[in-house]
Parts: sequence; structure tokens; C-alpha cells
Amino acid sequence: MKKFHQKNNDGKMVLLTGGAHPALAKEIAKCLGIPLGDVLLGRFPEGEIQLQIRDNIRGKDVFIIQPTCTPPNESLMELLILIDAARRASAKRITAVLPFFGYARQDRKDRPRVPITAKLVANLIVSAGANRVLTMDLHAGQIQGFFDIPVDHLYSINVMGQYFKKKKIKDLVVVSPDVGGIKMARGYAKLFNCDLAIVDKRRESAAKTHVMHIIGSVAGKNVIIIDDMISTGGSLVEAAKALRNAGALDIYANIVHPVLAGSAVERIKHSDIKELIVTNSIPLGEEKRIKKITQLSIAELLADAICRIHYNVSISTLFSSAGVEA
Ligand code: R5P
Repeated sequence: MKKFHQKNNDGKMVLLTGGAHPALAKEIAKCLGIPLGDVLLGRFPEGEIQLQIRDNIRGKDVFIIQPTCTPPNESLMELLILIDAARRASAKRITAVLPFFGYARQDRKDRPRVPITAKLVANLIVSAGANRVLTMDLHAGQIQGFFDIPVDHLYSINVMGQYFKKKKIKDLVVVSPDVGGIKMARGYAKLFNCDLAIVDKRRESAAKTHVMHIIGSVAGKNVIIIDDMISTGGSLVEAAKALRNAGALDIYANIVHPVLAGSAVERIKHSDIKELIVTNSIPLGEEKRIKKITQLSIAELLADAICRIHYNVSISTLFSSAGVEA
């Protein structure tokens, strides 16, 4: 059966992208059967972003595809400037498509004198002129509420879940590497019809975590660690070590956003992880393409959601088998 996005194209949809992840934007455009809009993107000599949308987008439904990934400040600023340009070019509606929403980890004031960057970034996107947001696997679902415009929050669980289902792994336990990830891990446990275990971790610094306890039984089981993002790899590698010590057999990791900062890839290479599965919400540079890392594409999922938004069709059906709600 044809997917929704393969049946529809009324010529009123425009896809634009900045420099954060053109490969994903191209893949989405290919799924939708339309070309990417022409954006001239450059820099002034001192580094300021300079751009021009070279297609007429007056009265069009514009989707700006730009994960705010590394380098985060450049990606975010490009997104804001693109939104501004689209608004001033009389786009009918502007949707910021953020396959990865960066600056999301600082989402509450948990210590004195710290910012709430997730709210600040939401404010910036709205102030720039976005009318809607389409995003995926937010660090915390509540971030949707930081926007006073509609937010469609996708989950990659179906894409990633299908990959694991094909492996037909026996004696499986899904593991959340911290208490904050329980809801996401529970969705996978439901999909795989298996038990859930939880790693009780303490973060000592931005790059160092320490496992305190494992709640649940993993001895003699194959495990899949589920998380929204991997940055330094500290949480994952420490969790894998603790799970191995507790008797786990094969240890897989299913992590949506591969930030993979610093020496994360080296850490994974030498860890107890058998395979790390990530999405292409963030580009993987050549140096990060190692045998242990498998990248799955979410282009079709995003293309379908873009098309449904354009035609005002419900997107909740995209998650009907995932045990999560849109
Ligand atoms: C934390 O709450 C997140 O879900 C990830 O577990 C965390 O950001 C991973 O960071 P790192 O890879 O640096 O340990």
C-alpha cells in the first residue's frame, strides 16, 4: 500500500533547509517527490549568517528542515534566520521541522542561577515567526508546552522497533539507562512484549556518570538500552558495564539522536555494546561510521508527517502500533 506522502502533491508545499543536515532534507524531498527550495547560504567575512531564499514562496506552506545539531549555535541561528526570511517573503505558514531539538536538556531550574534553555529556544523559534513545530523524540515530552504554537511530536519507535523485531532476539529485557527515560523504554517493552529494567545513575559531571543500582533482573538476558540521545557516551558505556556485571548477555543500544561528542565513538568501540542503533536525525560524519553503529533513516516518517500536516490529516495514525500517543 502506498504511504500517504506518495499520493499527494498539490504544488503548494515548499521544503527549505539550512546547512545542518542537507542530506536528510534531500531524502525527505525525495520521499515527497518535490525538489528542495533554493536557498543561498553564506557568511559575512566576520562569520554572520547571510542567506536568501531564491524561490518565490508567497502564499506557500513552508517547511524548514533543520535539526539544531552540532555546531548547535550555528544550526539554531540559521534556523531562526531562515524562518525570518520566510516570514518576510510572505509564506502562508511556516513549520520548523526539528528532527533533533537541541538545548533540550536544560528544561527546568534544578539548581540556583541556571537557565531553562529549552524554553528560551522555543521562545526564539516562535518570535522568529514559526507557526508550527514538527519534532521527534524530545528529551522530555513536556517541552511541547514551552511553545505557544502547535507542536507535532513524532516518535521513531516504529522505525527502530521494526529493526529489532527482524533480529528476533530471544530472552529480551528493555533497559532505561536512567529514571527520566522510563516512559520511552516502557513503550519499547510494550512493543517487544518483554520486561523492563532501570539503571539508577548519578551524573557526576557533564561527561561522567556513575551507576548506583539496577532495578529489575537482567541476568541471562539479552538487553536493549533505550535512550533519547547519546552525547559523550558516558551514560551508555557505564550502564553497559553495570549490566554486563549483573549477568546480561548481548547488550544492544537503541538511541535516537547520535550527538556523539568528543571521544564518544572511541568509547563505544571499546565498550560492552554489541550494536548501537541510531537514527539520521543528526548527520554521522565519516569518522563516526564504525561497524558497531547502525543508522536508520527517519526521512519517510518525517515526509509522511509533513504531508499530513500540509493536508490537515491526523498524524496520530503514524503511532498506532507504537504504544505512544502523538
Ligand atoms: C540524559 O538525561 C539523556 O537522556 C542522555 O542519557 C544523556 O544526555 C546522555 O549523555 P552522555 O552520552 O554524555 O552520557
